[in-house]
Amino acid sequence: MKHLAKRITQTSPKSFGMFQKASMSGREDLIHLEVGRPSADTPQHIKDATIQAIQDGHVHYSDLRGLPHVREALAEKLKAKNDLDVGADRVIVTNGLTHGSYAAIMAFLDDGDEAILLEPYYPQHIGKIELAGAVPVLAQLDAADDFRIDPAAIEGKITERSKMIVLINPCNPTGRVYSREELQALADLAIKHDLIVVSDEVYEDILFDKAEHISIASLPGMDERTITLFAFTKSYAMDGWRLGYMVAPEAAIGALLKITANDVTHVNTFIQEGALAAVKGDPSVLQGLIDEDAEKRQRVVSRLNQMPGITCTWPQGTIYAFPDVSGTGLNSQDFADRLLDETGVVVEAGSFYGETGEGHVRVCFGSVSLEDIDEAMNRLQSFVGTLSTVEA
Ligand SMILES: Cc1ncc(COP(=O)(O)O)c(C=O)c1O
Repeated sequence: MKHLAKRITQTSPKSFGMFQKASMSGREDLIHLEVGRPSADTPQHIKDATIQAIQDGHVHYSDLRGLPHVREALAEKLKAKNDLDVGADRVIVTNGLTHGSYAAIMAFLDDGDEAILLEPYYPQHIGKIELAGAVPVLAQLDAADDFRIDPAAIEGKITERSKMIVLINPCNPTGRVYSREELQALADLAIKHDLIVVSDEVYEDILFDKAEHISIASLPGMDERTITLFAFTKSYAMDGWRLGYMVAPEAAIGALLKITANDVTHVNTFIQEGALAAVKGDPSVLQGLIDEDAEKRQRVVSRLNQMPGITCTWPQGTIYAFPDVSGTGLNSQDFADRLLDETGVVVEAGSFYGETGEGHVRVCFGSVSLEDIDEAMNRLQSFVGTLSTVEA
């Protein structure tokens, strides 16, 4: 449409990936391993607290930054869990992580500014950078190095227009949980080149094999240049609630509020009581949800590694496996397309996350039941068996 604003025509998504293809396939036996949607129900105590808040009449406008007692509880959590000693005034409750990343990107990026993303990247962040009129610049991480943070690859992309580095930790799609040394290397670059870091930590709780999640803002000198984004989405199976929060330097709060107050005013008042119930609730409920993910990961990764032409490193966090399927002789898009056409199993092509994702597919194990995982792995195994190009 010719009237559309440039910010729309210049903005991704250029493709919605396999979800759209699967929806148009007409198949009724689809198993969706492409969408990062938790399969569990939201814990009952969170629902109860929210319903109670409605019954109690918490249905009106409230504080633009989020309910003060909820932000106080979030600040306590940030101190105890993330080593971020911030007051409640530095917390803004958001509509999911997506709203926080939008606000951070819009508040800091001008036309022509550059934001560096680690590739493989999360496509949604690209779209927001483009909406701001800024330029996404990709620092490619190496699959052969298990997609570790590579300071030289990042520094090589820094120019005088660079303003921001976007980090996802634990990482979607690779499942990496970055070590203190990796984060320190990235922090050193941010400080040296005076860059803002936007740190997406939506998977902070979903950790396996004693992996430790470190918030980059807790490293020396990073608190004043990092916007850290969290959400209840994945950990508490609350994707439809649209509930998250961000922590920002004091000097940035006013700027961020200019975005959040203008686009949504504030997050639904009663839903925030659900956030309070989540952070204050019995931690064993959260652990129970993570244990389910751990079992699914075990099932998926061990099965994938038995298939000819496929190797899969064990994700340290998130709800994704990112197997290398190059040994099947198919590129990642052909693999995903043929798997859908021939078996009804939907995975995302690694190339969807940038060139360095080529040779891989992303398999979301957190979005389906154990039974569906077994069925999907059986179909995948038969599919791989039909490929004449598979290496022995
Ligand atoms: C890395 C990452 N960030 C953000 C989101 C979106 O989070 P929310 O639904 O809380 O906006 C997702 C969802 O898949 C994600 O994987």
